[in-house]
Amino acid sequence: MASEKLIKELNNQYNFEIASGYIYLGMAAYCKAENMNGFAHFFSEQAKEEYGHAMKFYEFLYDIDARANLQAIPVPKNEYASFLEAFEEALNHEKVVTSRIYALMDLAKEENDYATIEFLQWFVKEQVEEENTFRDIIAVLKGIDGKFTGLYLYDKELGKR
Ligand code: FEO
Repeated sequence: MASEKLIKELNNQYNFEIASGYIYLGMAAYCKAENMNGFAHFFSEQAKEEYGHAMKFYEFLYDIDARANLQAIPVPKNEYASFLEAFEEALNHEKVVTSRIYALMDLAKEENDYATIEFLQWFVKEQVEEENTFRDIIAVLKGIDGKFTGLYLYDKELGKR
């Protein structure tokens, strides 16, 4: 059985993943309001991924004979100054997620909790991908430099996610 402290942190991360999805839904809502349906689709798919991440924590908590406790979800931003700003905030958010996963891993290692260490490995790998995805998009958006034609074409591309 995992320690109470570790269970509490796993539960906090379950809730943080749900809140992450809500932040991405706010970004989707902004992009859709700006008629960028492809960007909106990308963010809403991201929100679904976050729900998937949350459910991995949820299931794991029960697998180790603990339980999930739902917390309040903070109100996300609904407006951004630009698409670039939204994606930059997404990357910054993923960096926070990564540091939280690392902190969880440190705790699991401190406690020699091998099951949790094994469970968290998937997230360590996933975070490399998540950060990389947003870094790539930011590089393209910087190249587009707010020009309509570039944004229009890139919106179509991200809509294929
Ligand atoms: Fe669940 Fe995007 O980290």
